[in-house]
Amino acid sequence: MVRQQEAPQSFLAKGHRVGLQGMMVAVLCLSGALSPALAADAAAGKALALQWCSACHLVAEDQPMATSVSLPSFYDMAKDPDWTEATLATFLADPHPKMPNMSLGNREIANLAKYISSLAPE
Ligand code: HEC
Repeated sequence: MVRQQEAPQSFLAKGHRVGLQGMMVAVLCLSGALSPALAADAAAGKALALQWCSACHLVAEDQPMATSVSLPSFYDMAKDPDWTEATLATFLADPHPKMPNMSLGNREIANLAKYISSLAPE
């Protein structure tokens, strides 16, 4: 299920730049929904991110909760060449001690890594 994004209105950490990217994510999610062959599901990853990651990280421009600006946002991660779908998946399987280990399943990890990577600007 893909929920329509609302018009960007939040000015969280990276508010200005996130607007356009958020719309691109919505487009990506739509195209993902139309191609069931995709292994990992960015839309599902976004839902997981909003549920489990948004208490600490900025994970989406339409997220209802404000976060700590000192933590890397998912947009920062997507732009960082060191974070690929693969390195994100590895990290999430055994996270940094500063971050709680949430015992994510492989499927959840794949979807989250896919979602975060999808936030990267082209
Ligand atoms: C309780 C707060 C909290 C939650 C919830 C949380 N994180 Fe984190 N996350 C952190 C902290 C703290 C760090 C370490 C930041 C640092 O090292 O400067 C971190 C770091 C990361 C990093 C490494 C970023 C980098 O550039 O070093 C990734 C990737 C990440 N988190 C993804 C996630 C994902 C995906 C979720 C949801 C499944 C999540 N986090 C949920 C607190 C949290």
